Amino acid sequence: MTARLSFARPDDWHLHVRDGGAMRDVLAHTARRFARAIIMPNLKPPVTTVPQALEYRERILAALPPGTAFTPLMTLYLTDRTTPADIRQARSCGHIHAIKLYPAGVTTHADAGVTDLNKLWKTLETMADVRLPLLVHGEVTDPAVDIFDREKLFIERVLAPLVDRLPGLRLVFEHITTKMAVDFVLAAPDNVAATLTPQHLLHNRNAMYAGGLRPHYYCLPLLKREHDREALVKAATSGNTKFFLGTDSAPHARHAKESACGCAGMFTAHAAIELYAEVFEAADALHKLEAFASFHGADFYGLPRNRERIALQKQSWTVPASYPFGEDQLIPYRAGEPVSWSLI
Ligand code: DOR
Ligand code: ZN
Repeated sequence: MTARLSFARPDDWHLHVRDGGAMRDVLAHTARRFARAIIMPNLKPPVTTVPQALEYRERILAALPPGTAFTPLMTLYLTDRTTPADIRQARSCGHIHAIKLYPAGVTTHADAGVTDLNKLWKTLETMADVRLPLLVHGEVTDPAVDIFDREKLFIERVLAPLVDRLPGLRLVFEHITTKMAVDFVLAAPDNVAATLTPQHLLHNRNAMYAGGLRPHYYCLPLLKREHDREALVKAATSGNTKFFLGTDSAPHARHAKESACGCAGMFTAHAAIELYAEVFEAADALHKLEAFASFHGADFYGLPRNRERIALQKQSWTVPASYPFGEDQLIPYRAGEPVSWSLI
């Protein structure tokens, strides 16, 4: 059994850090493990303009623990009104690395999202031209569609036609949850990639209902069936460069999760790389972890690979019952339970 692992410092290609005092608390967990992270723009109000993204970037840098080397990679939130000029400005400012598509109403703070992608062709074409990737929350919002089928229908109705029409667009299918999504990405052109979260690699949907309703396992897209989870693990551990790490760590205050209508999102930043190590170890693929966590994403985004290193050891630790979250507290994934790898 491998007792120790050392590899190039990883990056998190999908992260929510929120804002204000809560941001200061969650950011430190990520900055201890990752060199860079793609920062989601779903604040309230959303980050839709270049000046807003640059100001948010400054707030993130100011919230880092002193002496921490961590680079936030900013994104813009696509709306029905995002223009080709916005895209060119985003590309030329140097700090914006992608544009995020939330179908309107699909998840937390997605009400300002896109209502009809067909109105945005010029904008999308400009993204293809300037090589700015589109990050896709791939679920339909049609309330008539079964919530477990929303990713599948999104592939059929939106994603497949989009990739056909704009094959040159660099696209990341974010936090994929189904075998169908894995197969779609495998069959798509090289410029279509996907991120995988720790929770979708570790759990199937039974986790949400184990012995009662478990709000801390509620995220969007939802956890799916076991055969989906198995396909995701196979993709992550395959060595295929289309698949890379994106935690989708999405903190919410305890009261917002433990509620009659709780928010979607799981907080995993406190143990993120350790959790992926568990997944890769269980699949007998620890030798593939470095490329998944530290190389494939950087290569896709055209950024240099990190030169610093990180080390993990096979030593169990117990996740605290809660962490501070600004004025509130948050319940981390696996609160009070062990994680088998620790950061050295
Ligand atoms: O579970 C989720 N939480 N899914 C999302 O897409 C958004 C995220 C959040 O911001 O809380
Ligand atoms: Zn997300």
